[in-house]
Amino acid sequence: MEYQAKQLFAKHGVATTLGTVVETAEAAKAAAEEIGGVTVIKAQVKAGGRGKAGGVKIAKTADDAFEHASNILGMEIKGLTVNRVLVTPATPPEEEYYFSFLLDRSNRQYLCIASVEGGVEIEEVAKTNPEAVRQIPVDPGTGVDEAKAREIATDAKFPEAVFEQAVEMIQALYKVFVEEDATLVEVNPLARLAGDKLEALDGKVSLDENASEFRHPEHADFEIREEADPLEAKAKDLGLNYVKLDGQVGIIGNGAGLVMSTLDVVAYAGEAHGGVKPANFLDIGGGANAQVMANGLDVILNDPQVKSVFVNVFGGITACDEVANGIKGALELLGDAATKPLVVRLDGNNVEQGRAILDELAHPLVTQVDTMDGAADKAAELANA
Ligand SMILES: Nc1ncnc2c1ncn2[C@@H]1O[C@H](COP(=O)(O)OP(=O)(O)OP(=O)(O)O)[C@@H](O)[C@H]1O
Ligand SMILES: [Mg+2]
Repeated sequence: MEYQAKQLFAKHGVATTLGTVVETAEAAKAAAEEIGGVTVIKAQVKAGGRGKAGGVKIAKTADDAFEHASNILGMEIKGLTVNRVLVTPATPPEEEYYFSFLLDRSNRQYLCIASVEGGVEIEEVAKTNPEAVRQIPVDPGTGVDEAKAREIATDAKFPEAVFEQAVEMIQALYKVFVEEDATLVEVNPLARLAGDKLEALDGKVSLDENASEFRHPEHADFEIREEADPLEAKAKDLGLNYVKLDGQVGIIGNGAGLVMSTLDVVAYAGEAHGGVKPANFLDIGGGANAQVMANGLDVILNDPQVKSVFVNVFGGITACDEVANGIKGALELLGDAATKPLVVRLDGNNVEQGRAILDELAHPLVTQVDTMDGAADKAAELANA
């Protein structure tokens, strides 16, 4: 969120104003009184376009701050409820620039995007005047030193009055990007304030969770539990690799590649069954024992959107008979909590033994289908029934 991004900016010497984060209108009023003068009340949600949604308001007085905060708190922006607002001094920008560093996976490098035509219309500028939005590759091996920062500032055409500040700020933002293991650092607007002072008036940072866990234990403080999807939070606690999606067919598979292709075949099969779609990504990994399978099913069956579940497992080191026993054990562990139809497709190592175990189990909720496409079709059909 913006206020968290600004904390990281301040830590690495990026000019910004932290402001005060509050959760009630009373606290917003008190914060505005403390700051004194005109303030800005800003919705804190992980979504862009807050200003356009009415989530950024100027407050002339502390009473205005109260008024705006009561309107903004509880507001929905792109499906996210606003639970806190940032109260910060109003510093009207004379010019608004756009600046970001991001991971450019397809070109295996970093990319800097910069424009002197920033602000809330930057997406529009990118469409109508793409030349004004500069894209400057950054070699991760050499990074951004002063010379590279100058190259970027020159390419983006930062005006002379703020040029040296821009060179400093670009290097500081690069430090945020690299030292915090971020995949995105974005400032929009990077503002030219009165007296030609350059300041980050907004900020967005995406942190790489794979690095956070062991290199940045302090990043855990940024996580706001009650804002995480409850199923994703539960899956995380269970050590599962789970992403909630919007459809009706729950998916469990072993191996990220297999799960990704399962999402594809289910989405495709769903076209013939009322347009049903995958409800999640869930990779239970290599060791698909009963407990892991039960944990996975437990998360998926608790998603009220799920109408059927497709278990797609390719037996490798963990053979199909172990997986079948895992499913059997999971159904026993879940008991009456298992209420939705499961379509199981097993293939690979020890497939005959695996299928025999499930045939013998003859569980009323379980249907076995031999092929991946056939199983996807069955699962989509059941989700649409
Ligand atoms: N402290 C401030 N003082 C004066 N004006 C501000 C201040 N902060 C933001 N603004 C103005 O409000 C506009 C929107 O603010 P901001 O960029 O933070 O939100 P947003 O762009 O709508 O949100 P997002 O970046 O999430 O899309 C800015 O472009 C700027 O013109
Ligand atoms: Mg912005």
